[in-house]
Amino acid sequence: MAAVKQKLLLMGKSGAGKTSMRSIIFANYVPRETSRLGATIDVEHSNIRFLGSLTLSLWDCGGQDHFIDNFLEAEQENVFKDVAVLIYVFDAESMETKDTDYFRRVCDAIYTNSRGAKIFCLVHKMDLINENEREQFCKVREAQLKKIGERLDLTCFWTSIWDETLYKAWSEIVRCLISNLDTLKAKLRALCEVCEADEVVIFERATFLVIAHAVIEPHDDIHRFEKISNIIKQFKLSCNKKRAGLESLQVQNANSTVLILDFTVCTSIMLVCSDTRIRPAAVLHNIQLANEGFK
Ligand code: GTP
Repeated sequence: MAAVKQKLLLMGKSGAGKTSMRSIIFANYVPRETSRLGATIDVEHSNIRFLGSLTLSLWDCGGQDHFIDNFLEAEQENVFKDVAVLIYVFDAESMETKDTDYFRRVCDAIYTNSRGAKIFCLVHKMDLINENEREQFCKVREAQLKKIGERLDLTCFWTSIWDETLYKAWSEIVRCLISNLDTLKAKLRALCEVCEADEVVIFERATFLVIAHAVIEPHDDIHRFEKISNIIKQFKLSCNKKRAGLESLQVQNANSTVLILDFTVCTSIMLVCSDTRIRPAAVLHNIQLANEGFK
């Protein structure tokens, strides 16, 4: 498959939490370590190999006013051309008119330079918003942001580094860049059926973001997979600290068997079987046979 490089802009005011989320998702920071991060100067570029032929070119743009003004004026073409995805981060606790004004100008710059880009607004630090007020808060903010970006393809997420919402948002962001996602989902469904599993999930191996899943037995919890991402990633990091790599994990109880293992070079797979008569060795064999088709 031909190599594809996709440009992602990460923008928003200083202190909104951009570098924190980038460090947690792509550089294995744990949330509490982000309090030590300094302000980003100008732009920090990183190229992240993601799923075989896909490379993410991530531009973490410093959020101090003079940097944003410079991006919107002197540097506009350089920053805003060829953008596949804009991730605009708002600090939920302190969203002011100035922030939405900047966002409006950024939307205009995207409209001028990269009209087809997808826009993800991450209203972040939701842990600081009173739980009773969240629903109303989200409704009002979503309407406001959608109005500003009405000419663009815009989606809102409500995130915090302290729970799985960050994984939910970033999984959705990277999924929109995967060209063969439907084929991947169809293959996963076939694997799920062959293994007689209840569900199968594929995660990107380094970040543990959810790439695709197939579910035969649905669950009520809509954040189920992102919670699993979060938990397994923390577990993997703890193993790494003890210099013990985690290649596979098998958990079995009276009701089900769960297998998590490295799958292709860039992915890990999780499989849940509630039929305990099915032998893990047989499931592993099927996974190994299927592996070639996912490369
Ligand atoms: P610039 O680099 O100046 O543009 O700022 P930034 O947007 O990159 O902010 P940064 O990631 O450096 O985060 C600023 C502070 O916010 C840090 O102390 C983080 O620990 C804190 N923070 C990040 N995310 C969250 C969150 O979800 N909740 C809370 N309560 N604090 C957060």
